[in-house]
Amino acid sequence: TILILDFGSQYSHLITRRCRELKVYAELMPCTTLLKDIHFKPQGIILSGSPYSVYDSDAPHADPAIFELGVPILGICYGLQEIAWNFKGQVAKCEHREYGHATVQRTRFGQGSVDALFEDLGDEMQVWMSHGDQLQDLPKDFHVIGQTESAPFAAVAHNTKPIYGIQFHPEVTHSPKGKAVISRFVLGICRCRANWTMEEFIGKEISRIIDICGPKGRVIGAVSGGVDSSVAAKLMHEAIGDRFHAIMVDNGVLRLDEAKQVHEMLNKDLGVNLTVVDASELFLSRLEGVEDPEQKRKIIGNTFINVFEAEAAKIEAAAEEEEKQGGEAKGLVEWLLQGTLYPDVIESISFKGPSATIKTHHNVGGLLKDMKLKLIEPLRELFKDEVRALGRLLSIPAPLVQRHPFPGPGLAIRILGPVTREQVKVLQQADNIYIEEIRRANLYNHISQAFAVLLPVKAVGVMGDKRTYEQVIALRAVQTEDFMTADWYVFPAEVLKRISSRITNEVKGVNRVTYDISSKPPATVEWL
Ligand code: XMP
Repeated sequence: TILILDFGSQYSHLITRRCRELKVYAELMPCTTLLKDIHFKPQGIILSGSPYSVYDSDAPHADPAIFELGVPILGICYGLQEIAWNFKGQVAKCEHREYGHATVQRTRFGQGSVDALFEDLGDEMQVWMSHGDQLQDLPKDFHVIGQTESAPFAAVAHNTKPIYGIQFHPEVTHSPKGKAVISRFVLGICRCRANWTMEEFIGKEISRIIDICGPKGRVIGAVSGGVDSSVAAKLMHEAIGDRFHAIMVDNGVLRLDEAKQVHEMLNKDLGVNLTVVDASELFLSRLEGVEDPEQKRKIIGNTFINVFEAEAAKIEAAAEEEEKQGGEAKGLVEWLLQGTLYPDVIESISFKGPSATIKTHHNVGGLLKDMKLKLIEPLRELFKDEVRALGRLLSIPAPLVQRHPFPGPGLAIRILGPVTREQVKVLQQADNIYIEEIRRANLYNHISQAFAVLLPVKAVGVMGDKRTYEQVIALRAVQTEDFMTADWYVFPAEVLKRISSRITNEVKGVNRVTYDISSKPPATVEWL
């Protein structure tokens, strides 16, 4: 295992990803974590970048004990300065913040194992820099292994210990050999074995779940038809069979025929024990007249809890009754399944606290914390692409594994005005045509997320000889790696043409279709 200490850089989670891509398990922890509180012995430690300067009075520092542990250490950007700070080197502000491409020249070759970081990587490397401070002087017992035009100490190594510092960011894709540098550190210097695979994970996780739940405990969990909850449900089913109960709540703002499709998929294809609750009346009545997006999210989140808790109580009552009747004693519901992924965990362990809220993403997790059930989170170590790989291994059908994400508050945040049954129907139809045509053009898997939005304006049109005055649909499609930033997708014109013509012809009440060409930032993926 590689321990990554997070000093708050926006790239910290990418370091974790790169290690995992090398099939080495890596865990990100706040930089303030004390060595004695870490539950595993790391084979190597990576110190991330940071928005701070090491000499700021409130600058975060690592537990100095890590330098005594004897395992290899790699400091990236601020991590390099943190090493220098520890070894009493000089760090100072650059005259100009350096941001962008640079070329690192290797300065020292073949000095034995201490210079192993850049082995076999050539004499020059294109790298990505993003820093305001840099090393002014070498700390005692260190030597230079790489420099750029403006940074004479762009890469340094300890003379006798496996401690390295680099000014550039190897974790970003703008550093083409960055992954090789991380590989040199993790596989070469730390000698980690490349054995973190989803095949291994399934076996270990199933035994862990069986251990946690014991021979009788039951688990309930919400499923949405999305990949995370489906994979989590399937894993639970593999581990404890019918002692796992999935509940799907139809909140009235799902996609066209979604509840029916998910029901079929989970029951038939995954064999999971599933209850579908149609609570659409309740949700839509509570949403009546509400326009504010955050208000919509709140109502949907709270109503979800009410409905879910009522269903959970029913399942628990039935379990109790079964036990009383002397039926097979399967035990009571003790656990709540959560499809929490690693990015949510990273977000919540940040040493600065969760980043500023732009939208309160309705995460069922946070909201259900008050329930008396204990949480079980089998995906909490995984990134989205790992969950997809896991899904494939668990024989979950490919269309489900590749599904675009769908927000918890559903179409309610894609209807820009008040949510009514009629508006939901209009949007469902338009969205369905849009996705159908994307699939027909074989573009679905090239796009990260695509959906239609119903605008709260009317526009003039003409149909036959008549003037129309109807609603407008906006189409959105983005490509992104992590949904933190996103580019709008460039469709072939003929696909857009077909989509527009079908929507305006087939969806009653819509006479105009527009395509959203905003990237994130400054826009967000959803309109609300
Ligand atoms: P934004 O709009 O923040 O979206 O750029 C990024 C990703 O998050 C999804 N999203 C949500 N998911 N509840 C969710 O479960 C929400 O309230 C919510 N708002 C946005 C969005 O669909 C995209 O995938």
